[in-house]
Amino acid sequence: MNEEENKDSEINRGLEGVIAAETRVGYVKGDDGKLFYRGYEITTLADQSNYEEVSYLLLYGHLPKRNELEAYSKRLRNESDLPEELFSFIRSVGAKTHPMSALRTALSYLSSFDENESVNDPEDQERIGISLIAKMPTLVGAIHRTYSGKEIIRPDKNLGYASNFFYMATGARPDPVESKIMDTSLIVHADHGMNASTFSALVTVSTMADMYSAITSAIATLKGPLHGGANERALKMIKSMGKPENVEKELKRMTENGERVMGFGHRVYKVYDPRAKILKRYAEYFAERSGNENFKTAEMIEELMINKYGERGIFPNVDFYSGMIYEALGFKPEIFTPIFATGRISGWVARTIEYSRNNRLFRPKAEYVGERGPLKYIPIQDRE
Ligand SMILES: CC(C)(COP(=O)(O)OP(=O)(O)OC[C@H]1O[C@@H](n2cnc3c(N)ncnc32)[C@H](O)[C@@H]1OP(=O)(O)O)[C@@H](O)C(=O)NCCC(=O)NCCS
Repeated sequence: MNEEENKDSEINRGLEGVIAAETRVGYVKGDDGKLFYRGYEITTLADQSNYEEVSYLLLYGHLPKRNELEAYSKRLRNESDLPEELFSFIRSVGAKTHPMSALRTALSYLSSFDENESVNDPEDQERIGISLIAKMPTLVGAIHRTYSGKEIIRPDKNLGYASNFFYMATGARPDPVESKIMDTSLIVHADHGMNASTFSALVTVSTMADMYSAITSAIATLKGPLHGGANERALKMIKSMGKPENVEKELKRMTENGERVMGFGHRVYKVYDPRAKILKRYAEYFAERSGNENFKTAEMIEELMINKYGERGIFPNVDFYSGMIYEALGFKPEIFTPIFATGRISGWVARTIEYSRNNRLFRPKAEYVGERGPLKYIPIQDRE
């Protein structure tokens, strides 16, 4: 069939509404504002679980027994360190490159230290996937340190995943509340249906490319402001508005100019994003602890946006409050999206492995609307 023979099919711009694969990893119930990982609700996991357990759940489909969790956590700790060359690379680019760009290249560079980097069989996918999950906090921690002009900190194998990440990124050991908030932030970002970065990973692996390539594609896709990049911009917007009394005027200006309000709206949720609800609690905790006014400004933005756009299904999404939490934890805004990636890597790996088990090359079509030709070729010297 010719590429342009598309006349009877509807064009689904952005593949909106198209079901392209089956999955058991997780799903989003957009109308009810619910998110499930392997059948467990995100609110339950955020309250009762931890990132290592959630990561295991996403990968293997069941909650681990005690010995399974111990073995998985030990593996993550043992594989968390990086080759020295990676730290040198991060030192050389980390201060001048956007952390998401540094992360994309650093993760891809890791493949050079793996003799079987191009192998895409199930064992190697799992081996590489777990190794990348283990190394992500170390990569992002090192990038954050370098970007902040500080010395890189190597993993402390006595700490859990989220606490170790916090330690490597900020240089401080988290108190129990900070540790819980860091952990929850990673949990709520761990998986989210067929989002753009996950889809990107699946497109890459559908060509039978390896896990390093799939995760590099996912990181590249997460970078954009309509996906992971929104949290950094949401906080900048909240801060630029300053006091709550400035919000109304500023929102009016933005909507008149057709500007998008970052941290609002979602392709799937048409009600309040459950992840935003979980994170808002923590943003409020930090605001009370520090007396920072950003939270009040954010609440005012939320109130006015919901009054104006709630009926059209535009509510705060996960990115609206996450930036405020990360800043309170001591992270620079440019590292917010890499934190998102650190949570999401378990979902990327789980779905990439799952898709490969029942692989089908992704190859949609585009409707050709250009010049049909055949045009006469004019030599360069005769062109007007
Ligand atoms: C996430 C997003 C791309 C999903 O949008 P979508 O499902 O593709 O919806 P559309 O872009 O088609 O928007 C539908 C309508 O809502 C409006 N809208 C959606 N999100 C908006 C926002 N954040 N601010 C202002 N208006 C918004 C659009 O302008 C559009 O209005 P129109 O019908 O009058 O043209 C969109 O909500 C957005 O750009 N949000 C801001 C970025 C963000 O927070 N991203 C993180 C997502 S987790």
